[in-house]
Amino acid sequence: MDDDRLTGVGRPIRSGQDIGQDGISGGHRPAIRVTAIILLLSPLLASCSGVQSALDPAGREASAVATLFFVMLIGGAVIWAGVVGLLFHAARKRRTYSEKGAGQLILWGGAVLPSVILAALLSYAVWLMPNVRPWFQAEDRGLRRVEVTGEQFWWRVRYLDDGGAVVFETANEVRVPTGKRVVFLLKSPDVIHSFWIPVLGGKMDMIPGRENRLTLQAEKPGTYRGVCAEFCGASHALMAFTVHAMEPEAYEDWYKARQASTGTRDAQGLELFLRHGCGACHGISGTEARGTIGPDLTAFGERGSVGAGTLANEKNQIARFLRDPDAVKPEARMPHFSMLPEAEIDRIAAYLKGLR
Ligand code: CUA
Repeated sequence: MDDDRLTGVGRPIRSGQDIGQDGISGGHRPAIRVTAIILLLSPLLASCSGVQSALDPAGREASAVATLFFVMLIGGAVIWAGVVGLLFHAARKRRTYSEKGAGQLILWGGAVLPSVILAALLSYAVWLMPNVRPWFQAEDRGLRRVEVTGEQFWWRVRYLDDGGAVVFETANEVRVPTGKRVVFLLKSPDVIHSFWIPVLGGKMDMIPGRENRLTLQAEKPGTYRGVCAEFCGASHALMAFTVHAMEPEAYEDWYKARQASTGTRDAQGLELFLRHGCGACHGISGTEARGTIGPDLTAFGERGSVGAGTLANEKNQIARFLRDPDAVKPEARMPHFSMLPEAEIDRIAAYLKGLR
């Protein structure tokens, strides 16, 4: 390195080149600097994992997307490293290229290398996508079907039988068996939402007036997070859902238990719930509450959150939501119940929390 620097002495150079040279000289200092930068940036890698990361896939389509991402990243990094390497090479050696040499450099480094790499990446992506898409949009006969409707601002989830009839309804939570393809039928009654479970696959819009299909297959059991990926109003950012990928046997057990679920265990709680008119908007299997405007509350106690991923499903948080939903979730359509006595709000919250 020192030799290289010495060769430059005495040549007329611009001050800018001086600064550039000093910046890359000094023995081991650049190595320390690079190490320090990598160490400082390493916490960012933590964001590559988690319940909502497309880079930490738990499903078949998401794995293909993550692989594509990393292949693209490596391809891009090779081109970047090549260009930066050439820059340093030229700056250090103070090389002057002949017209022919410069032409060769531009031809190979600027045209051939990037073209070959980009063509390879494009071919890979083009090869990968048709392999994924038809598989996921294939005939859904014999596959489990779940209809998900984007509401403002929550998710209506209906499990369908083979004939397309609703077996039961729930909200803000999707359960799927691992190792099996599940077809999601995606709808919206009013505005466009986008259904996205990053760990399982790509997103799909929910468009009023049409039904979109998305087939996903979870590979790893776990609890993941899904989100709305299309701005849909004031509480768009508060519109999440939970995905439980379960072993097939556990899933079947849950599916059967869920069909037998009723809300009659706590008669006094149910009585208050009905007396204050909650049943006009919410349904609870086995009770007189048959409303369909708001989320179905059958087995509500087993859900992880209140208000579509907004609050933890705890008694005091349910009470807080009942008192003033709009304060928790702007423009939520549920009316507030702050006029009810605290004791009754608490009683209803306890009733809901106890629903299994
Ligand atoms: Cu629903 Cu954004």
